[in-house]
Amino acid sequence: MSKDDTRCSERMNIAIDGPAGAGKSTVARRVAEKLGYIYIDTGAMYRAVTLAANRAGIEPTESDELGAIARRSEVILKPGAEGQIVLLDGEDVTDAIRTRDVTLRVSQVAAHQQVRARLVELQRKMAAAGGIVMDGRDIGTHVLPDAELKIFLTASVQIRALRRYRELRDEQKVPLDQLEAEIAERDRSDQEREVSPLVCADDAVVVDSTELNIDQVVEIILNLSRTKLAEAK
Ligand code: DC
Repeated sequence: MSKDDTRCSERMNIAIDGPAGAGKSTVARRVAEKLGYIYIDTGAMYRAVTLAANRAGIEPTESDELGAIARRSEVILKPGAEGQIVLLDGEDVTDAIRTRDVTLRVSQVAAHQQVRARLVELQRKMAAAGGIVMDGRDIGTHVLPDAELKIFLTASVQIRALRRYRELRDEQKVPLDQLEAEIAERDRSDQEREVSPLVCADDAVVVDSTELNIDQVVEIILNLSRTKLAEAK
C-alpha cells in the first residue's frame, strides 16, 4: 500500500464545490461531523478578505491593494458551538462576513489572482494532514486536485434563491426576484472569471439537490465516502 493509500484508508479529503446557495456549507458541515473530520468553508475566507477590504476603503477593482490586504490579514477558521467561527486579525467576524455589503462584493474580490493565491496557500496547508471536508468553487479542480472524493453540488437558481430567502433574517430580507437575480449574477461572475472559475471537475460526482433535502444529500455523500474508504482498503 502506498503512502497515499494509507491516508485514504484513514482520513481522506472531500471537496464539495458548486454555485451559491446549493447547500454546500450545511451539507459539508454535517458530513464532517458524521465522519469526525474538520470542515473548512473557503467562501468564508474570501468573505473575510472582502470585509477587510471594505473596512480599509479598498475597491473590488484594486488588484494590488486587495492582494496586499489578503497577504497581511490573518484569517483563521475554528470550530465553535454553533458552527465555524471566523477570526479576522483576532476579531470574531462570523456574522459580519454575512452582511449584504460583503455578499454583493465578494465575488469581485475573489476574482483577483493575488487574493486567490494567498487563500489557496492557506487552504492547502489546512488540508495537508487529511480528514478535511472543504467547500468552495475550485476545491476539486485547483485547491485539492488529489482529493479522494469530489462532489459538485448544484440546484436550480430558483430553488437556491428560495432557500437563501428563507435563511435571511427579517431585517435582511430582500424581494425573492431580486435575490434570484443577484445569485444568477454571482454564478455568472464565478463561472466566467479567468482565474480558477467555478467548473465541475472531470472526476467529480454531480449531485443535484433541487428535489432533495439536506439529509438526503448528506446520506448520498456519506455513502460515496464509505465506498471510497472501502475501495482503498
Ligand atoms: O460560498 P460563499 O457564497 O460564501 O462564497 C462567497 C464567494 O466567494 C462566492 O461568490 C465565490 C467566492 N469563492 C471562490 O471564488 N472560491 C472559493 N473556493 C470559495 C468561494
